[in-house]
Amino acid sequence: MADQTKAISYSSYLQLEKLLSSQSPITKGSAAPAHDEMLFIIVHQVYELWFKEILTELDSVRSLFMAEYISESEIGKAVARLERVTKIQNILLEQLAVLETMTPLDFLDFRDQLNPSSGFQSVQFRLIENKLGLKPEKRLAFTKHAYHSVLSDEEKEIVRRSEDEASLFELVDQWLARTPFLQFEGFDFWESYNSAVQKMLERELTIIKDNPMVTDEVRQKEIENHQQTRASFEAVLSEERHAELVREGQLSLSLKALQGSLMIFLYRDEPIFHLPFRLLTALIDIDELMTSWRNRHALMVQRMIGRKIGTGGSSGYHYLGEAAEAHKVFADLVNLASFLIPKSELPELPEEFRRHLGFLYTKETEE
Ligand code: HEM
Repeated sequence: MADQTKAISYSSYLQLEKLLSSQSPITKGSAAPAHDEMLFIIVHQVYELWFKEILTELDSVRSLFMAEYISESEIGKAVARLERVTKIQNILLEQLAVLETMTPLDFLDFRDQLNPSSGFQSVQFRLIENKLGLKPEKRLAFTKHAYHSVLSDEEKEIVRRSEDEASLFELVDQWLARTPFLQFEGFDFWESYNSAVQKMLERELTIIKDNPMVTDEVRQKEIENHQQTRASFEAVLSEERHAELVREGQLSLSLKALQGSLMIFLYRDEPIFHLPFRLLTALIDIDELMTSWRNRHALMVQRMIGRKIGTGGSSGYHYLGEAAEAHKVFADLVNLASFLIPKSELPELPEEFRRHLGFLYTKETEE
């Protein structure tokens, strides 16, 4: 007979004894206990728990992408897990409002006693950034020391190791670069795309030149802007220009990956590209939600401490706002919108090409 005293229970499974005895406000038992300190601790702990779940999902998706061949069903799994991450991120955003029920004056009851600890020391947050693909050289330097200098030796080692691992960005880049069918038996997608782009640009230029509603001065300005738009397409059409932009730090994706993702974006209605399109969309969402959290956290920090420096030694609000812009990882995917052309102008995929990809599977089996 099973030993009933050892049977699993709600609290033993969830280790609630440990979990619920892990809140120790420093002002508790002092002459002036700060009521809001419990809220402060619990909100941070809940964040760390969600960070753990996000890392579990990111690690699993990274291992899926480490395989040489990634099947459709594996892509489906990756999409489901990344979409789960975005749902968690939405909760992380909402959660700041709970902390904001604490007023700046109430925060002052215990803020000084937190020195020099800071969210800057969250190892899991750094792991999320590194595993997504934020490179050390792209990080904002707010002191002369590396971002992990504020961590213990053991923590530093964990964070440093994550810098060397293949990030989600790198793995997705390699996978995108392998996107097949950019050239297929006489059909060269890039040649067709290039001529569709040139046609679209010529049409736009004619509209600008023939517009009777604007002055010559405005027209000249519009022509100059149009020339810049034309030049911006070189990022995906010219190997040299792409390499130059990578050297300048304006682009991170390889040319092949950029072209592969553009094809997925342009032909996302074709069944074979449905899942890849959802995958890229989830990555854009994750990046955008990271930026939203950073901005939202920066606003909360300003509201709580104004222009004071942070307990971690940064300029506080100012540093956090700048990091929101600088620490984007999948900006190249977001900026792909610059290279989209209207559906009506997309090069038609040849029948044989579509048949090869399996687009015509249903029709063929019916025949
Ligand atoms: C009263 C509430 C809070 C204040 C005043 C505050 C303040 C700050 C400040 C000033 C920094 C910049 C580093 C420094 O100099 O310390 C920072 C960084 C950070 N905080 Fe908070 N924070 C608060 C709540 C939170 C919460 C709830 C989290 C959730 C985990 C969090 C996570 C972080 C993280 C991850 C960083 C590093 C961000 C980066 O380097 O990009 N903070 N915080």
